[in-house]
Amino acid sequence: AQSIDELASILQGVGVSEVPKMPNTYPELNPFDVYRAHITELLASICDVEKSIILAAMQWTTTLEKGDLQLPVPALRKKGVKPDALAKELAEKFPESVLVERPTVVGVSLAFFFKTSPLTKLIVPFVLKNGAKCGFNPNFGLRDPTDPSKGKKKMIVEFSSPNIAKPFHAGHLRSTIIGGFLANLYEGAGWDVTRMNYLGDWGKQYGVLAVGFDKFGSEAELVKNPIGHLYEVYVKISAISREEKEVMDAKEEEIKKLQEAKEPTGEKEAELQALIDKGVDEQARKYFKRMVDGDSEALGVWKRFRDLSIVKYKDTYARLNIRYDEYSGESQVQDASMDEAAKILEEKGISHVDRGAVLVDLSKHQKKLGKCLVKKKDGTSLYLTRDIGAATERFEKYHFDKMIYVVANQQDLHLAQLFKIMELMGRTDISSRCEHINFGMVLGMSTRKGTARFLDDILRDVGDKMHEVMRGNADKYAEVEDPHKTADTLGISAVMVQDMKGKRVNNYEFNMDRMCSFEGDTGPYLQYAHARITSITRKAPLSLEELLSADLSLLTEPKAMDLVRTLACWPDVFVNTVKTQEPTTVLTYLFKMVHTLSSSYEVLKVVGSEEELKKARAALLVAAKQVLGNGMRLLGLSPVERM
Ligand code: ARG
Repeated sequence: AQSIDELASILQGVGVSEVPKMPNTYPELNPFDVYRAHITELLASICDVEKSIILAAMQWTTTLEKGDLQLPVPALRKKGVKPDALAKELAEKFPESVLVERPTVVGVSLAFFFKTSPLTKLIVPFVLKNGAKCGFNPNFGLRDPTDPSKGKKKMIVEFSSPNIAKPFHAGHLRSTIIGGFLANLYEGAGWDVTRMNYLGDWGKQYGVLAVGFDKFGSEAELVKNPIGHLYEVYVKISAISREEKEVMDAKEEEIKKLQEAKEPTGEKEAELQALIDKGVDEQARKYFKRMVDGDSEALGVWKRFRDLSIVKYKDTYARLNIRYDEYSGESQVQDASMDEAAKILEEKGISHVDRGAVLVDLSKHQKKLGKCLVKKKDGTSLYLTRDIGAATERFEKYHFDKMIYVVANQQDLHLAQLFKIMELMGRTDISSRCEHINFGMVLGMSTRKGTARFLDDILRDVGDKMHEVMRGNADKYAEVEDPHKTADTLGISAVMVQDMKGKRVNNYEFNMDRMCSFEGDTGPYLQYAHARITSITRKAPLSLEELLSADLSLLTEPKAMDLVRTLACWPDVFVNTVKTQEPTTVLTYLFKMVHTLSSSYEVLKVVGSEEELKKARAALLVAAKQVLGNGMRLLGLSPVERM
């Protein structure tokens, strides 16, 4: 990485004697901070406003035409002066600077344009030297920013969390993509991140599954394709269970009639009881009871299903560049922690018993939270109960500073109830650190062979589609080295980019044709942009030293300056993304960047240029490739070198 001394010497080279620095700025990690501190110093010298206020008032611009930074003068909170008059006055008095032009007045705002020659000298080496770390800021996650020895803050990101033997639906897909991104984001911000998958792996349905496996299961299939096979088994056994229920309901009806007619029913009842006992439901209930009671044989079968499923999940997640630190799940929550929670709820008078069941009435605290069940009549715990136990256990184990649940907005109520109950239990130490990151629905997600079932099926379908699109261009297709693998990577990018393009809360339509297109702001287009810049920079193979020795004053074209100014924004985009926690913040920037990039190729020819100019342009383009790659990897994409 670039050191503060190296920065100081670059600044001296352009005529700035000292690195401008203010509290909470990181000039060595973010060149924009150099400018913010510098402008603050100059403004403070001509008006009577606290430096911290000036610094905080400075804002990003939305387009380069509006400048690199802007300052809405009312934000200086100076009483008794008209903001437009003050803006004019500040612009007139603004001292000569080697880094920024005299500000222009736009209404009540000041627009600052950075002088492009020094900016280029700052930005290009900054990006090249920081490489894969460029843009990220590991100070944000420090417990104490002034003392790194105090360590990093601890974060748990819980995401994906599918249910074993059930379909991996759109909610899980989005959770996987968004959660993977958030984990990367916080890691880039210096937090100590634990990635956790909270599997749906407990409940009577796993008794059903075991009974089903006895009837329909195949060892070989289980080992070959655990997730698919268990699902198949589950579908078959559930169908039988449904049929049985119909028969039983009919029998029950019959008995009821006999009872009403006051006819003796002993025999009939015995017949019904026998039917119930033989039925899948009862067998499953018994099986699950054995699991709950710790019967090692029953647990062994279930554990095998779980372990094999996890092996398979791991492969699939790896395709999305995701690995977990912990596969937890509903089954892993200890009875002791749920009992403890129940005790507290009772002692504090938060819960009450109603016809044998335990309930918590949250509506008196907040109407929409309603009433919730925490224990059924028969003593079994619920989804919510397990989450309460899980949260306390995780806190014991990790002492997290923050925990994020990445779950669809269909579960807004569930998580709001969870956090409220923790709070009422007096565990604000936990509830205040928890956050639900929610997202909208995916509409119309189905595979070509029917409804989407598993992540693998979705990825295979999109890969196939991508392959088809690639074949559409026969000449290009012939040049691709490993079309299958490329189609696969592009397909994954297509799905991910489509998912991350809008704000998380928005629903979107799963549109295979649109997401797989090379036109428009799509995953394949972003990959294409990366492959293209890679191929251009490949034609000028220069070492880092050579690139760093380039004479950057040769870069004068407006296109080159647009690119430099855009690259300079990247660390600030990262800062903003930490605030918004929205992948679209990164994506919007990357698309803007690649549009600037692609329109610059025409002008910034590398091959055929004179040696020094070639070096300078290559340095800029290598820097652009670095920023693009860093952004893509932050999102969880694998930038391709060729396609
Ligand atoms: N397995 C759950 C489902 O598919 C999602 C789990 C979300 N996380 C949690 N801690 N409740 O609906």
